[in-house]
Amino acid sequence: MTIENVMVIGAGQMGSGIAQVCAQAGFNVTLNDMKEEAYNRGIQGITKNLSRDVEKGRKTEEEKEGILGRITKSLDLNDAKNADIVIEAAVENMDVKHSIFKTLDAAAPEHAILATNTSSLPITEIAAATNRPERVIGMHFMNPVPVMQLVEIIRGLATTDEVYTAVEDMTTKLGKTPVEVQDFPGFVSNRILMPMINEAIFTLQEGVASKEAIDSVMKLGMNHPMGPLTLADFIGLDTCLYIMEILYEGFGDSKYRPSPLLRKYVAAGWLGKKTGRGFYDYS
Ligand code: CAA
Ligand code: NAD
Repeated sequence: MTIENVMVIGAGQMGSGIAQVCAQAGFNVTLNDMKEEAYNRGIQGITKNLSRDVEKGRKTEEEKEGILGRITKSLDLNDAKNADIVIEAAVENMDVKHSIFKTLDAAAPEHAILATNTSSLPITEIAAATNRPERVIGMHFMNPVPVMQLVEIIRGLATTDEVYTAVEDMTTKLGKTPVEVQDFPGFVSNRILMPMINEAIFTLQEGVASKEAIDSVMKLGMNHPMGPLTLADFIGLDTCLYIMEILYEGFGDSKYRPSPLLRKYVAAGWLGKKTGRGFYDYS
C-alpha cells in the first residue's frame, strides 16, 4: 500500500517530533491536538529545531519552509478522513486511547492504518476498540524523535503482515531503524529501561545518594548520555509512572512496583522538564 498522508494525534513532545520527521521525509502531515495552545507549542518546537538545522547549514531556508508547509493544523479527529496512516501520540492512558481509536476507526478511510506510539499499553487491547484490529499496530518512536534512530514496531495479535511491512517501509523512509517486537508489557525498550529508572528513584528515596550523585554514577560509570533521574524528567514523570503501572499490572510481579517517591512527584504535578520541575528545577 502507498502512504502519502499521515495524521499525528497529540502535538506534545513525541507527536511534534513525529510530525517533524514525517514532513522532513516528504509526507503530507496533519498534526492534531485537542488543545490549540498545545498545537502552537508543538509547531514552535518544530520551527526551532528546523531553524537550528538552517543555522548549522544542514538545511536551507527553503527546505525549512517546505517542511513547515507540509504540516497542516487540526483540532478535530474527523480530519482523519484523508489519512493513509494515523500515528497516535496522546497521553499514556488506555481510556483516552480507546476513545481516540473509536473515533478514528469511524473517521479514517477503510484502508488506513491506525498506529500508536504508546510506550507500554497493549496494542491488542487498543485494537479491540476498533473494527479493524488487523490494521492496528505499535509504532514506538524514541525521545527526542528527530535524533533517536530506533522505532520499535509492535504487532498486535491480529496485525497483518501487509500492515507490518507498510509500517516497516515507512520507518525506513523516515531514516529510522525498525525493530520487530511482540505485544508484551513494556515491549523491549521500556521493560528494560523503566525498571532501571524506577530503581534510581528508590535509591534516591532511600537516601543512598543525592540525585546528582546517582546521575553521575550512571553517566560517568556506565557511559549513559543522561543519568536516570535526568532521563526520567526528560521523558515525563507521569509517563514513567504509567509505564511502571502497566509493567506491575501486566506481569503481576512486585519487582515492577512503582516507587512511592515517583507517585508523590506525579501527585504534586512535578512531571519533569515539561512542567518546569521534576527531580531537577528547569524554571
Ligand atoms: N529535538 C531535536 N534535536 C535535539 C533535541 C530535541 N528535543 N535535543 C537534542 N537535540 C539535538 C541537538 O540539536 C544536537 O544536535 P546538533 O549539535 O547536531 O545540533 C544533538 O541532539 C545533541 O544535543 P546536545 O549537544 O544538546 O546534548 P547531548 O549531546 O546531551 O544530546 C540527547 C542530547 C540526544 C537527548 C542525549 O542526551 C541522549 O541521547 N539522551 C538519552 C535519550 C534517551 O535515552 N532517549 C530514550 C528515552 S525512552 C523513550 O523514548 C521511550 C519511552 O517510551 C519512554
Ligand atoms: P505530552 O504530554 O508531551 O503530549 C501529549 C499531547 O497529547 C498533549 O499535547 C495533549 O494535549 C494531547 N492530547 C491528549 N489527549 C488528546 C486527545 N484526546 N486528542 C488529541 N490530543 C490529545 O506526552 P508525550 O511525552 O508526547 O507522550 C505521548 C505518547 O507517547 C504517550 O503515549 C507516551 O507514553 C508515548 N511516548 C513517550 C515518550 C517520552 O519519552 N515522553 C517516548 C515514547 C513514547
